[in-house]
Amino acid sequence: MTVRALEFFSGIGGMHYGLKWSGVDGTVVASFDLNPVANQCYTFNWGVNPIQVGIHHVSAQTVESFDANCWLLSPPCQPYTRTGKQLDDQDARAEGLLHLIELLAILKEPPFYIFLENVVNFEKSRSRDLLVSQLVRLGYEYSEWLLSPLQFGIPNDRMRYYLTARRTGTTKEVESPPVLNLRTTWPYENYQGPQPLADFLEDDPTGNIADIYAVPEPFVRRRRAFSEAAIVTPFSTRSSCFTKAYGHHGLGAGSFLQTKGFDGAKYLDDPSTAVEKLGLRFFTPTEIARLHAFPIDDQAPKPSNSYASDVTSQRQHSFAFPPDLSTIQRWRVLGNSMNCKVVGELMRWALFGNGEPDRCV
Ligand SMILES: C[S@@+](CC[C@H](N)C(=O)[O-])C[C@H]1O[C@@H](n2cnc3c(N)ncnc32)[C@H](O)[C@@H]1O
Repeated sequence: MTVRALEFFSGIGGMHYGLKWSGVDGTVVASFDLNPVANQCYTFNWGVNPIQVGIHHVSAQTVESFDANCWLLSPPCQPYTRTGKQLDDQDARAEGLLHLIELLAILKEPPFYIFLENVVNFEKSRSRDLLVSQLVRLGYEYSEWLLSPLQFGIPNDRMRYYLTARRTGTTKEVESPPVLNLRTTWPYENYQGPQPLADFLEDDPTGNIADIYAVPEPFVRRRRAFSEAAIVTPFSTRSSCFTKAYGHHGLGAGSFLQTKGFDGAKYLDDPSTAVEKLGLRFFTPTEIARLHAFPIDDQAPKPSNSYASDVTSQRQHSFAFPPDLSTIQRWRVLGNSMNCKVVGELMRWALFGNGEPDRCV
């Protein structure tokens, strides 16, 4: 079956790149997002304009007009993040997802495939209960996953909730939300431990990048949260999750890269000295795009060659930033996005995969 996907909350198109990564014969027939900057980036790369509308306003007729058999969705995570208010289905930002859950029951032909991504904690939410109850009611089988790129050989921790669902059965009554049965290991392929970060860094023979992206001293001065965990080196095989606050909003939004002083002290009691002595810099947007497996250049991860036999669509489609996007805008859209390799592998094996052992519950 040729996949005709609708990409909701499309951002810079992480799901679209995941679909290409998966090697399945498929296209995104329409994408939807409210953010003009993300949409500019999407159009720059895919040559089509996402529909810039609140998803809670999208009607069943509009959805049906695309004749799609697959929904890809990465709704806003703020209603569920552990550090937020956790208003869940009472948060206005959950409205788009709740609307889509309702639409599923109204459509003449609900999508055959559904793929959703969200933050850790979504699995405990009422929104999750509403979603999976609706899926069971409408005859879907599904799997729920918590996975990090670290499990796929990429030195970046971005643990996320994923749901893969296929409509295979008949409608059912549902009295209470289905019990959570999370899958936290990846059964389909054995990846080596993560590569060192050095493999993802831009060459910097003149020290130009170290200068441009140097962490400003006031950024860390007097920060009590400044700790060794914030610093990684090119030899590290792990970096922390890059969020949309990276580079402009304090600590805890992603790792700093140490560029010198590798044998010495970490100066943790004196963050300002650490910045200077350790040559701390931010990761560049290109480096983060590589860590998120966007096909920005040859240093970004690529799908395995073993996919070649069943690839019927273009395997990878390149990614670039529109030249007029500022560095902060690039960091923001990347922080909102996803890891295209994890998404692509889940699509390949768990969503579209046929007959693999141990597939969906
Ligand atoms: C978690 S991000 C998804 C990012 C995307 N997967 C990517 O690869 O960049 C959520 C996206 O949903 C968009 N969004 C939030 N609420 C929306 C709504 N009600 N209607 C349309 N888009 C919305 C935001 O602009 C943001 O780009």
